Amino acid sequence: MPQISPSILSADFARLADEAEAVRGSDWLHVDVMDNHFVPNLTLGVPVVESLARATDIPLDCHLMIEDPDRWAPQYVEAGAGSITFHVEAAAAPVRLAREIRAKGARASMALKPGTPIEPYEDLLPELDMLLIMTVEPGFGGQAFLDIMLPKIRRTRELIAKHDLELWLQVDGGVSAATIERCAEAGADVFVAGSAVYGAEDPARAVHNLRELAAKASADAWWACEH
Ligand code: DX5
Ligand code: ZN
Repeated sequence: MPQISPSILSADFARLADEAEAVRGSDWLHVDVMDNHFVPNLTLGVPVVESLARATDIPLDCHLMIEDPDRWAPQYVEAGAGSITFHVEAAAAPVRLAREIRAKGARASMALKPGTPIEPYEDLLPELDMLLIMTVEPGFGGQAFLDIMLPKIRRTRELIAKHDLELWLQVDGGVSAATIERCAEAGADVFVAGSAVYGAEDPARAVHNLRELAAKASADAWWACEH
């Protein structure tokens, strides 16, 4: 079953507990941490993640768009996140970092910006629980989905099949009812959606609809049929 991770970047930051409640039934809550260095935007840090983890039962999917994740990522595990995504472009030692995140008890995930290819990282994939392919340039919600990322999603799904890995494949950026089927067909199975969920009149229903669309689109895909 595809998983949906609503991004609170599009939520009301003054009412985060209510906004988590508004997407009841989501598999994850996507928390975008930005440091105004790795990306040209600033959001939130460890104290907010700590409070949010206490305020909701939905596991937190922390997307770290920050410099020096080797130093900071472990603190987000301690803050209560269930999954930590660091950017490979910022990590000094991605294998060591993934192992540390796992050893501390969270799922370890690595993100690729649109300009970063997957091929150099084929041998690292067994160290990860999830790979995130950005489908916009990271930094802001509400941007247009980059169709040119679909071949990278497909090639990554082929690598997962080739090595028979239990690796989730997440997409983030511009995912909506208009684009989620293409992502699912290509091989994604975890979908981040910010504006498509929090911009909807009924966010919980939007999550449900997105999951249905993804499930239908992936049901007949080559990569899902084999499993
Ligand atoms: C962008 C963030 C995304 C963002 C997605 O850098 O990583 O998680 O919230 O927002 P939408 O779904 O509106 O593109
Ligand atoms: Zn994100």
